Amino acid sequence: MIEEQHDFSTFNFDDFSYEGEGGSSTPPPPPSTAPEAEAEALAPPQASDQVLPNGAVVAAVDSDPAVREYLAAQVDGDVATAASLTEFEGRLGMGPVVILLGPSCAEPGDLALVEHWSRTHPEVGTILITSELTTALLHSAMRAGVKDVLSAPIDQMQLLETVSRVAEGLSSAPVAPKPSGPGDIPLDTLDGETGRAIAVFSTKGGSGKSVVATNLACALARRSDRPVVLIDGHLQFGDVGVMLKLQPQHTVIDATSQLSKLDAPMLSQLLTLHEPSGLMVLPAPHEPTFADQITGADMVRLVEMMKTFAGHVIIDLPAIFNDVVLSVIEASEDVILVTGLDIPNIKNVKIGLSTLAMLNVPKEKLHLVLNRADSKVKLDVGEVEKTLQIVAAAHVPSDVVVPISVNKGTPVVISAPKSGVARAFEQLATQFLDMSAASAAPSSNSKRRFFG
Ligand SMILES: Nc1ncnc2c1ncn2[C@@H]1O[C@H](COP(=O)(O)OP(=O)(O)O)[C@@H](O)[C@H]1O
Ligand SMILES: [Mg+2]
Repeated sequence: MIEEQHDFSTFNFDDFSYEGEGGSSTPPPPPSTAPEAEAEALAPPQASDQVLPNGAVVAAVDSDPAVREYLAAQVDGDVATAASLTEFEGRLGMGPVVILLGPSCAEPGDLALVEHWSRTHPEVGTILITSELTTALLHSAMRAGVKDVLSAPIDQMQLLETVSRVAEGLSSAPVAPKPSGPGDIPLDTLDGETGRAIAVFSTKGGSGKSVVATNLACALARRSDRPVVLIDGHLQFGDVGVMLKLQPQHTVIDATSQLSKLDAPMLSQLLTLHEPSGLMVLPAPHEPTFADQITGADMVRLVEMMKTFAGHVIIDLPAIFNDVVLSVIEASEDVILVTGLDIPNIKNVKIGLSTLAMLNVPKEKLHLVLNRADSKVKLDVGEVEKTLQIVAAAHVPSDVVVPISVNKGTPVVISAPKSGVARAFEQLATQFLDMSAASAAPSSNSKRRFFG
């Protein structure tokens, strides 16, 4: 079970010290009163040599000149400043930029502009610095596509790390949105009760989300008496189609662009059958730029419609918090958190758990999957569970059968059914099948608990 007292190490609620309201044991020098020399002294010596990934530059935007100077001083080097986002807008399109948004940019109008930039300018990444972090603000910032929210007082190293990470994820050029997908789809009919949506998420790329999603989905499809659907929610670089060796006719964009015209049976016609398992798959768009056209609300609507005929709808998500990811996590009955067993993974999961707790995602729907759980050089499983205060629903061993299966396009549950990896996924599938059975018959005493 996740502890009640969440670790808000990233999101502390201390006041911005420059506002003179105190509350922090280690306040930074107040920017509105700090002498310039003092602000400069804050910059670490290595920061001036720092070259950001993708050749990104940094900018600081706030209506208060003292605040933007203070933010600029934290990063050092050449930092462009502007008093407002509208003032900065004319400078967009000149290459990758990480924009530090001061507290004055947390207004709904500014966040709407940030949301627009997130869609139209993949070379722009934003980090919001706030004096008062509330759940509502975190929600709207993430929905606007803000890459991270940091609470004052700023930890300079954390800020530099965040800037670098955001720069790493930027495109090198602006991308124009493309027109939407094909026309009408033939009809068919399916019927049944509402199924369960299982979102597969992780706070770190490469931790095994797609391996977990494809194997769990195939295991469920082979054993479930109702249809099972797998949606690739990694809209930019989804690889579910490749991992299942499919040549899909239709992708998520075809479904979401037709949502208002299609009913559930018509939608089901867009799915590609994975013949070895019977799984029905909706892969990611062929072009990353299509991702911009799909909103969180579209994805939720899609999942809800799939649930009208499928027993389980599994959604493979990217390792970021954006509108689509948050909306799907909120709307899903279950969320699988996949993590490896090294320190960066565990640190990120801890932060991710805190963020999900702040967003009021009930802990009961979180299921931890430890991937490569037996790797010799890595951390002890018991220690990790203790640190994260959550008992793992599955331990998936590290095994060469996984990369082999990925390269062959045949999930481990099919290509190596006797392996420890396949057994772990079958056991995970059993837990979800039991949960569905238990929710269909609430009096059943076969209900299993994931958390103690
Ligand atoms: N249990 C495992 N044992 C060995 N290799 C693994 C295991 N899980 C994942 N991998 C390897 O890690 C790679 C990344 O996994 P993937 O599911 O694509 O990550 P994500 O979707 O989280 O980015 C896979 O291609 C696979 O080769
Ligand atoms: Mg993936």
